[in-house]
Amino acid sequence: MASHIYQRPKLYQKQSDAFFNTDRYSWIEGSTKSGKTVSCMAWLFEQALFVGKEGREFWWVAPAIGTAKIAFRRIKRGVPKGFLKSNDSELTHTLPNGAVMRFKTGEKPDNLYGEDVWAAVLDEASRMRVEAFYAVRSTLTATRGPIRIIGNVKGRKNWFFLGCRKAEAGEQGHSYHKIIATDAVAAGVFPQEELDDARRALPDAIFRELYLCEPSDDGGNPFGLKYIRQNIAPISNRAPVVYGGDLAKSVDWTVLHGLDDNGVTTSHTRFQLPWKETMGRIRMICGATHAVLDSTGVGDPIVEELQRVGSNFTGLKFTAQSKQMLMEGLAVAIQQGEVQYPDGVIVSELESFEYEYTRTGVKYSAPEGSHDDCVMALALAVHAKKSRPPEATVIVL
Ligand SMILES: Nc1ncnc2c1ncn2[C@@H]1O[C@H](COP(=O)(O)OP(=O)(O)OP(=O)(O)O)[C@@H](O)[C@H]1O
Ligand SMILES: [Mg+2]
Repeated sequence: MASHIYQRPKLYQKQSDAFFNTDRYSWIEGSTKSGKTVSCMAWLFEQALFVGKEGREFWWVAPAIGTAKIAFRRIKRGVPKGFLKSNDSELTHTLPNGAVMRFKTGEKPDNLYGEDVWAAVLDEASRMRVEAFYAVRSTLTATRGPIRIIGNVKGRKNWFFLGCRKAEAGEQGHSYHKIIATDAVAAGVFPQEELDDARRALPDAIFRELYLCEPSDDGGNPFGLKYIRQNIAPISNRAPVVYGGDLAKSVDWTVLHGLDDNGVTTSHTRFQLPWKETMGRIRMICGATHAVLDSTGVGDPIVEELQRVGSNFTGLKFTAQSKQMLMEGLAVAIQQGEVQYPDGVIVSELESFEYEYTRTGVKYSAPEGSHDDCVMALALAVHAKKSRPPEATVIVL
C-alpha cells in the first residue's frame, strides 16, 4: 500500500493565523485573490484527515453550485492521485479514513439541514444568505465542530459584516481576521502591478472593498452617494458639445443627455415616441453636435439611419464589457467632479444603482424593476466627451 505523508501547503503567516487557530468560529474578511480559498481547502482537508472517521461529514459551502465545483476540482488536483475516492456527481471526496468531504451550494438553505457535520467552510460568505449560515451552524451543533466563514467585504448591511464585527469585539469562541491585498503582495502571492492596475481601473469605493476590505457606506452604490450629490448643478446655458442617447427598448424611454465643454448638463430630454418620430426628435435636438447613441438591438438600424443624414452620430453596442467600461468611466467622472447634472430623476437613478461582484468581474445595474435609461444616457455623454473628435479648425479669411 502506498504511504502518504501530508504536508500543508506553504501559507503565509496571516493565512495560517486566520484559519489554523483553535477558535471554533473564525471570521475572515479577505481581499480578492489573497488566498482565502486555498487556505480553506488546506484547513478542511486537514480536519477530514485528522478528525475524520468512517462516514463523518466535512462540508464546503459556496454561494452557487458552480463555485462549489471549482473548489471540488481544486482539491482533486491538489491531492496525490489515488488518495481520494471522488464522486463527480455527488461532489464528494472520500479519504482513506472514511471521512467524506462534501461540496454544496448555499442557494437552498433548507437542503443544508439534517446531517451531523464535523467541520465546515462557508466560502464567499458575503454573497450568501444568512439562512445558509444558520443551517450549516445547526449541523455542527451535535459535533461541536469548527467553522471558517470567509468572504469579501460588501457594504455594512449584511450578516457577514455584522458577524465579523461581533467576533472582532471578542465574542467567546469566535475570532476575527483580515487579510488585505497588500498582505498578499508582501507575501509574494499577488503582483503589485495587478493591485496598481485595479486601483486605477476601479471606482474608489469598489477598489477599497475588494482589495482593502474597507466597507463602503453606500450599500453597494458604485458612484458614491456623497459624490452623486456634490455634482448637482443647474442646467448650463452654454452650448452643448456632446450628446449621449439611450434608445427606448420595449418598456422604457429614449433619453438624450447634452453636456457643455465643462461637463455641465445643457439639456436632458426623455420621451416615448414611435421610431420615425424618435429619429426626427433626435435629429432636431442633436443637430450637428457629436452624439454617441446606444446601438444595441433595435437601436442599430436607427443609428444607421441617423448616420445617413449626419456624420456626427456614433453607435455604441452594450455588452457586458462595454457597459462595465461606461459605468466605470461615469463613476470616475462623478468622483472627480467632471460632470454636473440637475437634481431629480437622474440623481435618483444614480442613487439606486447597484454593483455586484461576479466571477467575471463587477456588474453594474439598476435594481430589478427600476429604470436605468438616464444613467446610461449620462454615461454615454461622458464617454462621448472623452472620445470626442478634435475640434474642427475654423479658418476665417
Ligand atoms: N500561500 C500561498 N503561496 C502561493 N500561492 C498562493 C498562496 N495563497 C494563495 N496562492 C495563490 O493565489 C491565487 C489566489 O488564491 P485563492 O483562489 O485562494 O484566493 P481567493 O482569495 O480565494 O480569491 P477570490 O477572490 O478569487 O476568491 C491562487 O492561484 C493560489 O494558488
Ligand atoms: Mg476564493
